[in-house]
Amino acid sequence: MKVRFSFLTSLVLALIFSACSNEETPQNSPNSVSGKVVEPVDTSVRAELFEDPHSYSKENAKVTHLNWEASVDFDAKVISATAEWVLSPEHADTVVFDVKDLEIEKVLVDGESSAWSIEGNDELLGSALVIPAGGAQIIGIQYKTSPQAEALQWYPAELTQGKRQPFLFTQSQAILARTWIPCQDRPGVRFTYEATVKVPKETLALMSASNPTQKNEQGIYEFNMPQPIPSYLLALGVGDLAFIPIGDRAGVYAEPEMVRNAAYEFAQTDEMILDAEEMYGPYYWGRYDMLVLPPSFPFGGMENPRLTFLTPTVIVGDQSLVSLIAHELAHSWSGNLVTNATWNDFWINEGFTVYFEMRIMEKLYGVEFANMLEALSYDDLQKELAVMLEENVAATSLKQDLKGKNPDDGVTAIAYDKGFHFLRLCENTVGREKWDEFLKSYFDKYKFKTMVTEVFLQELAGVLTQGQWDSIGVEEWIYGTGLPVNCPFPVSNRFVVVDDAVRMMLSADPQADNVKSMVYLPQETTIRWTTQEWLRYIRGLEAGGASEGHYALADANYGFTGSPNPEIIAAWYSAILKTNFEGYDANMYTEKVESFLGSVGRRKFIVPMYQSMLDGDKKRQEWAKKIYMDSRASYHPLAQGTLDDLFSETME
Ligand code: BES
Ligand code: ZN
Repeated sequence: MKVRFSFLTSLVLALIFSACSNEETPQNSPNSVSGKVVEPVDTSVRAELFEDPHSYSKENAKVTHLNWEASVDFDAKVISATAEWVLSPEHADTVVFDVKDLEIEKVLVDGESSAWSIEGNDELLGSALVIPAGGAQIIGIQYKTSPQAEALQWYPAELTQGKRQPFLFTQSQAILARTWIPCQDRPGVRFTYEATVKVPKETLALMSASNPTQKNEQGIYEFNMPQPIPSYLLALGVGDLAFIPIGDRAGVYAEPEMVRNAAYEFAQTDEMILDAEEMYGPYYWGRYDMLVLPPSFPFGGMENPRLTFLTPTVIVGDQSLVSLIAHELAHSWSGNLVTNATWNDFWINEGFTVYFEMRIMEKLYGVEFANMLEALSYDDLQKELAVMLEENVAATSLKQDLKGKNPDDGVTAIAYDKGFHFLRLCENTVGREKWDEFLKSYFDKYKFKTMVTEVFLQELAGVLTQGQWDSIGVEEWIYGTGLPVNCPFPVSNRFVVVDDAVRMMLSADPQADNVKSMVYLPQETTIRWTTQEWLRYIRGLEAGGASEGHYALADANYGFTGSPNPEIIAAWYSAILKTNFEGYDANMYTEKVESFLGSVGRRKFIVPMYQSMLDGDKKRQEWAKKIYMDSRASYHPLAQGTLDDLFSETME
């Protein structure tokens, strides 16, 4: 396995090693009961580690509070607003904000009109808004957003469930908050906020803050977020929304047509919060509500504090996809409470969150269910790794160097699944009880603070003995590429049954006379299968090189083509679109593919489907292009970006 060390990591490792080589570590070292000692990260190295390559803002002039007054204009697709920023008491004479595609109208420094300048114009980072503000306390920026703002999706009324009102939602992570609020757009700066937002009377406005539950006559809503958050957690949603509470602390907002189904699907949320608190300490954010977005939302979920944003594609009627809620809820600790200092440390957010998600799922639904999720995570990791090791080996380390790159490049199975498996290995090594104690105190110690990998390693050293540290191979896991050989392998008993079914299918000759009696498991078994088992089944057929005949047999019995579950549909079509399978009714198949891609914009679903089509012959590629051209306008700017790249790479 190749191991790539950057200059910085070698420096940090040198520091760590100089302090912890076996010989030099006293057996009864007073500052480490476990015997592993790591020196505190040196101040100058520390400054480098916390330096954010994706923001123009400066360490020496930070904000502490935001007062946002905004008005939302659906016709013009513009938000007009004033962002009033309170500065930290001691700051440099020049204050810098990140802006992208914003029209700055006026700047006030302590209430007085002030000069300002825009510097730089980077396609990825936007520009620096530079304001002379020596000794000032408050900077007010009056501005308008652009109809093309990347963080905003203006969703037309016709495409909503109720078709009555348009919908607007934001997606700030990773560096898009700057396209709707001038801000110090990096995870290392935290601030509290208040907001007043005016929207059309027929709609309700919600933010990542304290929220209303009902519309009012004026269409003006007030918000307060008393816990300090980084800019990527700023969020706004506006639409024709209703609310249903779930227990004491949780609730769901959705279009009236969907809100009951959503409340049923997420009925366990209150219990999840209790389970999570029991493991890793108090939930610090007051309420935990969820907002169901239109199907164009490019993600599964987004952990906006107090108000998780969700895709409607997890509302499938059997609560089988609620690990997504466990995931976004887990971010209330890993991410929102202890935050990656820069996007280079993204695994500190996502790896911990997947780990915590699995623990919540295990607690609530049992170890067998969690094992299936873990096995799927392992498969995702292997699949993505195979491609990444061909294309971009450096991107397979947990610690990333994203300077000059889009932080979205770091959103891969590495941060999520390699991160998860590393933490699972740590747990296996020290034992669950001690590990949980460690994590609980870690969340407490660093609450409302930012975290870099190197500081986490220092903490980790406190819970591992030298021998454990070495047997895990901590440095190789963090800075090395690929997947270390000691990666835990999740075993799922329920998947053993599924894998048998896959084998039965693949070993049969689809043309044989009595083939149907040989390829299916008894219905008593498959009737109990959850989404996870079906995903394993479909992926198993795909990985095993199923022929069109095999797919036809599977579809005839299990009806994948007509499944109401988007997770199953996406896996199914991604598999069969690589073949010439056209189902039992070619027209129906064509229509279903087109209507799915025309109505759902979740990247995880649509990118593999388009990819499968683009891997096919010219005719298939042209079909993909036509569907994309027809559907593009209904996709989120982020999904458009991903797919534009995909199409331009494949079809010059
Ligand atoms: N915070 C992420 C979504 C995200 C990451 C948005 C980076 C923009 C940049 C969210 O918590 C997430 O991980 N969503 C996953 C959920 C899944 C792993 C359960 C998703 O949307 O697929
Ligand atoms: Zn996440």
